[in-house]
Amino acid sequence: MLNIFQQQPHPALPEASHDEKSRQEFSKSLRQFVQGQLLPGLAPVFQRQQKKFVDEHGREPKDRREVRKFMVQDPYFQTYASTNRCAQELLWESVLTSIERQQPSLNETAAQLSAKNGAPLVVDPEMEVPRYVTGIDIHCMPGGYAGRAAEDDISTAALYDRGVYLYAMGYVGPMNDDMGRSVCNYVTRNMPDFKPTRILDMGCTVGHSTLPYKEYFPDAEVIGIDVAGPQVQYAHARAGGMGMDVSFQQRDAADTGFEPGSFDLIVSHILLHETSSKAMPAIFKECYRLLKPGGLMIHADLPPFDHSDLFSEFILDNETHYNNEPFWGPMRDMDQIQLAVNAGFDQEQVRFDTAPMAVLEFAAAHAEGYSEEAASEVADRDFEAGEFAPGGGWEVLIGHKQADA
Ligand SMILES: C[S@@+](CC[C@H](N)C(=O)[O-])C[C@H]1O[C@@H](n2cnc3c(N)ncnc32)[C@H](O)[C@@H]1O
Repeated sequence: MLNIFQQQPHPALPEASHDEKSRQEFSKSLRQFVQGQLLPGLAPVFQRQQKKFVDEHGREPKDRREVRKFMVQDPYFQTYASTNRCAQELLWESVLTSIERQQPSLNETAAQLSAKNGAPLVVDPEMEVPRYVTGIDIHCMPGGYAGRAAEDDISTAALYDRGVYLYAMGYVGPMNDDMGRSVCNYVTRNMPDFKPTRILDMGCTVGHSTLPYKEYFPDAEVIGIDVAGPQVQYAHARAGGMGMDVSFQQRDAADTGFEPGSFDLIVSHILLHETSSKAMPAIFKECYRLLKPGGLMIHADLPPFDHSDLFSEFILDNETHYNNEPFWGPMRDMDQIQLAVNAGFDQEQVRFDTAPMAVLEFAAAHAEGYSEEAASEVADRDFEAGEFAPGGGWEVLIGHKQADA
């Protein structure tokens, strides 16, 4: 059993019975086992297979694709990859049972909670959701982000809320909000004079990362947008249930429909790697258009592959091949700085940095739901291959719009 942060309940979250909870814990532990026990065994396999490759070809493998060709033949790798895939499918399955049992009351509860959120909810049933979202069940999540079993059904969002906690194995804190908190910390500490009054979170899903912005910048208007209708509906209800007035709107980050210069701060958290090579440049352009002069864009996502070695690249790229994340690898090959420059940002005003994970300091401060014991699990952990927190912090791409733009 994992001794890590437990998810803090809130009124919109589906409840789990004793047996359901136990299956969910098992799926989380199985994932932990794969990452913690099976994954390290791949390093010696890689060394052995790489040596064989060099003996046969008289040279090192040139890229992760060549590594994949020989690694997929190895029975240890096959066992690792198939167990990992089973663990992934199992985690969603373990949550689905409790969601199906509680339908339709989950939808009714969401509607009631939504009424408590004083900020607008915008759902656009006519909106054309991009095919890269609807065409695949991203990270094997049944129904994807935008699927609905019936009109106004929010099951896929409830599934995401609980499932992503298991997926992240509790490492992103009791409210699944460490990315948002960490970026907020980063902004308040590194730019103490920056006081945003209007904040946009792109690809907000259920608002995990969005709500911290309201907490850190209570006077600001905070808006989360997502192309998936069920996600923004649930996000709005979740915020209402937690007593927060935050707006959630169904909009496309590549073409939001907001006025130019509407925001001081535009953020996203693990949105970009789930878009496409066409959407990503459009999203950067939209950020530039929407920012006020002097405004700030921050995307917390995966660093480019050129920050890692060939073995790590190969492992990370397993997400592309076995976890329904088709853009995971291609995104890491893209020159994100150049995309920002193409969108209008000055080269000197764009950079990568790391926002330290906030969970560690919240645990040290004994905040509700945090424990030092769980935090030590995070601190001791090697955030390596196959995980989206690359090592004690979140990789952030930062772009400052020129003050005189
Ligand atoms: C991994 S989730 C983001 C998680 C969320 N930001 C968080 O921190 O919890 C990716 C989300 O991006 C949304 N998305 C994908 N393309 C989008 C676009 N062009 N505009 C807005 N949302 C988009 C998906 O529907 C999905 O909800």
